[in-house]
Amino acid sequence: MNAGKLISGEEVAKHNRRESCWIIIHGKVYDVTEFLDGGCRGSKIILKYAGKDATEEYEPIHPPDAITTNLPPEKHLGLVEPSTVEKVQVKITDEEKARQERVSNRPPLDEILNLHDFEAIARQTMPEKAWAYYSSAADDEITTRENHAAYHRIWFRPRILVDVTKVDSSTKILGYKSSMPVYITATALGKLGHPDGELNLTRAAAKHGVIQMIPTLASCSFDELVDAARPGQVQFLQLYVNKDRSITKRLVQHAEKRGIRGLFITVDAPQLGRREKDMRMKFEAEDPSEVSKAGSRGVDRSQGAARAISACRSFIDPGLNWKDLEWFKSITKMPLILKGVQRWEDALKAYDLGLAGVVLSNHGGRQLDFARSGVEVLVEVTEYLKRQRGLTFPNENFQLFVDGGVRRATDVIKAIALGATAVGIGRPFLYAFSSYGSEGVERALQILHDEFEMNMRLLGARSVADLAPDMVDASNIHSHLVAVPSDKLYESNYESMRHARLRDVKSKL
Ligand SMILES: Cc1cc2nc3c(=O)[nH]c(=O)nc-3n(C[C@H](O)[C@H](O)[C@H](O)COP(=O)(O)O)c2cc1C
Repeated sequence: MNAGKLISGEEVAKHNRRESCWIIIHGKVYDVTEFLDGGCRGSKIILKYAGKDATEEYEPIHPPDAITTNLPPEKHLGLVEPSTVEKVQVKITDEEKARQERVSNRPPLDEILNLHDFEAIARQTMPEKAWAYYSSAADDEITTRENHAAYHRIWFRPRILVDVTKVDSSTKILGYKSSMPVYITATALGKLGHPDGELNLTRAAAKHGVIQMIPTLASCSFDELVDAARPGQVQFLQLYVNKDRSITKRLVQHAEKRGIRGLFITVDAPQLGRREKDMRMKFEAEDPSEVSKAGSRGVDRSQGAARAISACRSFIDPGLNWKDLEWFKSITKMPLILKGVQRWEDALKAYDLGLAGVVLSNHGGRQLDFARSGVEVLVEVTEYLKRQRGLTFPNENFQLFVDGGVRRATDVIKAIALGATAVGIGRPFLYAFSSYGSEGVERALQILHDEFEMNMRLLGARSVADLAPDMVDASNIHSHLVAVPSDKLYESNYESMRHARLRDVKSKL
């Protein structure tokens, strides 16, 4: 390793080609030529920064230790002499100026009344690339909308004349206290939305006594997020399983040592879903002349943030299967939960294997389009596991979690009444910190808390344990044809997908 060697900016600048490509990240010089040779889909982006400082592009989509763990030590060339580095001039476009003005016109936080509001503000103020990555979903985005719509097929049967002077929204998730049956689910690339990335979630979770699930692909490093937790603060880890099991083993055992209380293994992503909003954004952000040059050389274009992160590290193992679970049991004592279960047969298998639970989830509609919503799957899972194994839910020994489309505490209450232990929420917290940092996430949690307590009172439930199946009518849950009043706040935030457009011609469509 040449860690201490000083290299001039001029020297780095000479290595600006496919055959020899050096880049600077956080003042350090790396030889990344072999990343290009590997046919990595992010090659084009890397080449754009060949011989230059790539920190700004690199930071939001990689944890700080990504390059040190993925590049052999001999490719760490040394430190750049700061005074010799030519600053890459970032051109502030008119659109960016307009965006910055919109940012300065955000309403104060106390005018944000519900989780939809965060999405509305984020949509207008986030950099387009980040908005595209966070909001996009698979194919025609039917499942992502169905995730929310499914809750509209469940109606309440409140109890009256219950003394609800005091209501208690607290509960236990995998045996750990949570101020309400909600956890912050794992969402990658936090720094695309805010420079502090997932740290915003760690801080707000601590203040509100809820649990954060750390993603494998966080923009902050795993240790940074664990170090930021308060003493006693509970965190879970979401795991993408690496083809190289020794890397997974190291990560899992390190997480266990650092006090992670539950391992959520993602099982719905053997391949990345096709997220066209994100892909289209990438095309439109490119200089057309560069695109055609790249096309004629047959270079695969970079396809949005999602593909950029998975491509260079196409490490997620599509071969992962049921037999691997015994191995997981042998390497850790943490409770194991499968994230992304979508039918009762698989939930039953997980139970029979002695796992701690399952998350009924379709990854926020980002993987298989026309996958059913988690809450619909919940109804069949509780029914069949009762029939086949005599289980009732919620069940301490086999916990059911649901995520996708949850935007109101009434959504949470419906899932809990139907047998879920807790509900995961993803995008609303991303939008909250993208617009307002960790204070935004705190506000989002406070809103959920207030909504939760109010609705418990209105339902005649004094505690989470009172939320039982008789409090809801889910008889229409499996019908996908029920007319209900539409949710205007949600619908107006939903940004329609677009067709391909001619370049340099204002479409009249
Ligand atoms: C931007 C974004 C990134 C995500 N990244 C991951 C991930 O890295 N691993 C994972 O298992 N799930 C990931 N998810 C899925 C979430 O954990 C969760 O299933 C989903 O967001 C729930 O839907 P909601 O966003 O409507 O609340 C991601 C979701 C979003 C929106």
